[in-house]
Amino acid sequence: MMLASKIQRRAFSASARNLSKVAVLGASGGIGQPLSLLMKLNPRVTELAVYDIRGGPGVAADLSHINTKSSVKGYDPTPAGLAAAIKGSEVVLIPAGVPRKPGMDRDDLFNTNASIVRDLAKAVAESAPEAKLLIISNPVNSTVPICAEVFKARGVYNPKTLFGVTTLDVVRASRFVSEIKGTDPKDENITVIGGHSGATIVPLFSQSNHPDLSSNAELVHRVQFGGDEVVKAKDGAGSATLSMAMAGARMAESVLRASQGEKGVIEPAFVDSPLFKDQGIDFFSSRVELGPNGIEKIHPVGNIDAVEQKLLEACLGDLKKNIEKGVAFVASNP
Ligand code: NAD
Ligand code: LMR
Repeated sequence: MMLASKIQRRAFSASARNLSKVAVLGASGGIGQPLSLLMKLNPRVTELAVYDIRGGPGVAADLSHINTKSSVKGYDPTPAGLAAAIKGSEVVLIPAGVPRKPGMDRDDLFNTNASIVRDLAKAVAESAPEAKLLIISNPVNSTVPICAEVFKARGVYNPKTLFGVTTLDVVRASRFVSEIKGTDPKDENITVIGGHSGATIVPLFSQSNHPDLSSNAELVHRVQFGGDEVVKAKDGAGSATLSMAMAGARMAESVLRASQGEKGVIEPAFVDSPLFKDQGIDFFSSRVELGPNGIEKIHPVGNIDAVEQKLLEACLGDLKKNIEKGVAFVASNP
């Protein structure tokens, strides 16, 4: 009896070490709401912080009736509310900012979203600099460097904990291939490298179950411009929200699994990367191995074919400009 209760206590304290607060900033939005829902359903999350410049407490009240164990709290749109939402978080997800309308590219969002992300990054740097920060807000190729600059200026930059979420590109590639090949998407693991916009998105079909697909220009284009497909279909009402919520939740789940000690968790993500620094490109998405402290290992691009080599060259040119734009923004608008 005594032994049983000791074992129970030990089991309890082991799971207590896995307490994980997750904050969603921009939680009332098209992505924010379903993403918060998926976080509420995730048993790894023990506390969910819901923050937005409008409607956070309402979304939180709604989620709080769901009968999973985590607590949910909505925060007022004040500096104190933001700080309290972020404090103590293991993971902070940022889907705050405006989405595209037809005819826009992601860079057209820069003028609005750069300052939104800069200000939220400042708050994270103040209240939870050690949190794993997952940036969804576009243009990701620029908003991630913006966060890095904000953290550097405050002396709290840890490149191992900053992630641009490119998971949706991986999710799309897997789904589109499964449609062509009549397979189960769970068996189609396609690495996508580069960045998160148009030509900077480089799917590596040569490394997949179907190496022949790298010459399928229509498929490659569909992965690179999958976002446009949704923007066009929504016809002015925004961009991908539901698929993005799923992809963001998958990335957060992977980060939490690794934080809680699971080994061998790998996700492509847009991170501070050594791979192309010699070409002046400080951020790049490739397969990233996750660990308790964030990034454990950044995998190299690996063998790619001639078609992919060409795509990569096009990617690097655009990516460099997008990154420089983010860095320059913080330099002149600290
Ligand atoms: P949305 O307009 O529906 O929601 C955005 C939310 O952000 C709103 O609720 C708004 O009130 C909130 N917000 C604005 N400023 C804020 C601030 N300073 N602090 C907190 N909250 C703030 O937009 P959406 O469809 O959810 O898209 C959000 C962003 O995600 C867009 O920039 C979009 O381009 C991007 N996105 C990225 C990916 C990706 O793969 N990384 C995929 C889809 C969309
Ligand atoms: C996407 O890939 O769906 C997002 O980046 C949103 C967009 O603007 O396309």
